[in-house]
Amino acid sequence: MNQSLIYLDRYRNEETKTYSEHAGYTEAQEKYRPDSRHSHFEVAVFEVPLDQMLTYTANPPISLAERYLPGDHILFCIHPQIFETHRDDSYVKRTLSIGTPRRGITVSPSSSTRTLYVQDDEPPHALKVHFPFRISRYGRKMRDEVLEQAINISGELESGMHYLDDKFAFLREVIGVAHRNLQPDSPRGENWGYLVRDMKPFPRVDEQRALIPGFALYGTDFFDPETPPLLFDLIGEGDPQAFILEEIMFPIIRHWTECFQHFGYLLEPHGQNVLFEVGEDQRIKRIVHRDLSLGIDMRRRRDIGLSSEDLNAYNRMESNEFHSITYDKFMGGHFFDRIVAACQGRYANLRKDDFSKPCRKEFARIFPDYPRYFPKTVQYFSEERDQFNKPLYQDTGKAPEWRP
Ligand SMILES: Nc1ncnc2c1ncn2[C@@H]1O[C@H](COP(=O)(O)OP(=O)(O)OP(=O)(O)O)[C@@H](O)[C@H]1O
Ligand SMILES: [Mg+2]
Repeated sequence: MNQSLIYLDRYRNEETKTYSEHAGYTEAQEKYRPDSRHSHFEVAVFEVPLDQMLTYTANPPISLAERYLPGDHILFCIHPQIFETHRDDSYVKRTLSIGTPRRGITVSPSSSTRTLYVQDDEPPHALKVHFPFRISRYGRKMRDEVLEQAINISGELESGMHYLDDKFAFLREVIGVAHRNLQPDSPRGENWGYLVRDMKPFPRVDEQRALIPGFALYGTDFFDPETPPLLFDLIGEGDPQAFILEEIMFPIIRHWTECFQHFGYLLEPHGQNVLFEVGEDQRIKRIVHRDLSLGIDMRRRRDIGLSSEDLNAYNRMESNEFHSITYDKFMGGHFFDRIVAACQGRYANLRKDDFSKPCRKEFARIFPDYPRYFPKTVQYFSEERDQFNKPLYQDTGKAPEWRP
């Protein structure tokens, strides 16, 4: 349990990518993958005049602002695989024409492949970079409007922490940098950049606490497949059903609901986006949410009279399909189902319903007006795509398991 976040994020994620037929797919080269023996690589860095770029901030720690946005120029970071395959990209060319190469930044890939841990630096932080290669279902671009929205959400969440319970924490997106749009007539801005993520969970605490990715509770180890799942270390001598419900599932359901009710956000708490923060006593203190590229239900924001002036147009939603994808599939199907299955490996008497039934009840209790926003049946991605290659939704016709 005392392994570092980077180790767990890279190497406790075997046999986990089975939640869809695309989940195991990656176009990342071996040397840039989290599940490889390469410990690190260098991100390309350019110094670019500030007035040539778009920059966004949400209360960055001073030292990160000084490093990435120093005065009249900024640092622009590019994943090396782009240089190997996309030299003709307009924004690669633009970077080379207006930028001056600087020493690269040494990083290790995280479980998402395109978010990169900066090595040996205080405060701990990561770079979420443009990676126009497909991993799982999606190409992993980091377009301007996407990164700007992540900064907007980070800032809004930070100032709205009083709406969330004390088990909620998140990783702030504190700096975003993108190229200006060089093709203003294109149907959507393809100009891209990168984000800086503060890796110290917010709100800050003084105690030294470990972070364990959600999937590491049931994933097997890259180097030693026989190591038992971390779930059992956390359960310890406790009652497995009570532990999983009260320390894992109820808080995550509560966080999904609180984020929806107070902000209209559709949190995506699958095993990769959730981290467990564990104290020196080996108990879970908080659930730390990462990845603020969220869908936003504009109906909910209007219902509660919340201004959306500070948001851009990205991922605004006016219908209910994606709620089911995030809650029923990402959290329920992709994550909770796996925790139940792992638990049954040791406690065979426990049935899925011992977990899903109390979760259904808890959800209805804390969110009685859910039928206003949720479809009756489970939705998921279809294999059809829109003009930007984003998957469309489809109705599976199935009854939800993790909510009424
Ligand atoms: N066990 C896992 N469950 C879900 N996704 C996983 C898992 N392991 C690795 N992944 C990868 O993590 C990514 C999940 O997508 P998602 O949109 O949540 O993350 P992201 O936006 O790319 O990065 P980040 O979470 O760092 O912000 C995908 O690339 C997926 O393949
Ligand atoms: Mg993620």
